[in-house]
Amino acid sequence: MSVRRLAEDHVQPQAFAFSKENEDWAKGFVNNFPEGRQASAVIPMLMRAQDQEGWVTKAAIEHIADRLSMPYIRVLEVATFYTQFQLKPVGTNGHIQVCGTTPCMLRGAEDLRSVCQKKINAEPFKTSQDGTMSWEEVECLGACVNAPMVLIGRDTYEDLTPERLEEIIDAFAAGKGDTIKPGPQIDRVFSAAEGGQTTLTDIDHKAASAPKSNKGDSGKPVAKGKKAQVTEESAPAVEGPDDSAKVSQKEAEAEKDALFDRPAGDPDDLKLISGVGKVIEGKLHALGITKYAQIANFTPEQIAQVDERLNFKGRIERDNWLEQADALATGGAEEYRKRFGKEPR
Ligand code: FES
Repeated sequence: MSVRRLAEDHVQPQAFAFSKENEDWAKGFVNNFPEGRQASAVIPMLMRAQDQEGWVTKAAIEHIADRLSMPYIRVLEVATFYTQFQLKPVGTNGHIQVCGTTPCMLRGAEDLRSVCQKKINAEPFKTSQDGTMSWEEVECLGACVNAPMVLIGRDTYEDLTPERLEEIIDAFAAGKGDTIKPGPQIDRVFSAAEGGQTTLTDIDHKAASAPKSNKGDSGKPVAKGKKAQVTEESAPAVEGPDDSAKVSQKEAEAEKDALFDRPAGDPDDLKLISGVGKVIEGKLHALGITKYAQIANFTPEQIAQVDERLNFKGRIERDNWLEQADALATGGAEEYRKRFGKEPR
């Protein structure tokens, strides 16, 4: 990584002021913070200054420090620490930050750097002949799974080949950077498997990734084998590999072990049933039991199954789960108090 210093004095402007629009934004933004905590606004203020000027000037650093009552050195520390801040003039159409950390290096970052040297300038931070493009090498930008990658402005361009980077540079140099879709440049959705889904293919992703909603949830137990109903409202808007990526391993495992198909909607607080603690609630969720009404409607066969799975040895009946759950399903804590003369726990 390069040494990060302010640009030489002869390129530094004498003064800095936010444009009218940015000034209005800055006043409002600083007011978001309680008195004495204005320094919290420093990074967004520096970004605004960079967006306006194209880079972070010494005058901007001093202006922001004064406004936030910070010593100049503190703002300088922030600006020199984060590579998102450019400390000297860069390409007018785009500054390419090539990730050179291990995963990207192993996947071809050196070739990407060579493309930048060939098409822009042999030296980092020096602009192309027409002044439109510049480049540098930076450390990990957090998209390692799609290595190798570059950052241009606020967008990442991932899964790059030297050829694809050449096309991207040409587009930005011609002022057509907005025609390039950021993200993976191959057949990959976000950070899902290249070429489409390869794992968890037996999961009902539509049901598993449905947003939490009480709509259409009867709370009735659903026997394993009959899928829980996913209403149109609760179904994800778009089905595809990106939705499947949202299914956590935990959910997948839970579905595998489930006796019931988990009903849609937020789970009830099963811990209000005497005899159910946090651990047992987690185990019940893993069996697909999340609603009071499911427990209230357990059949003797289902009680035996749950007993066996949780190694309970008759505890469900001993602790009278069914009637407790029925009270909670019928009228919540009030009904519970009425029937049992005590608070649900
Ligand atoms: S190593 Fe390149 S993004 Fe992390």
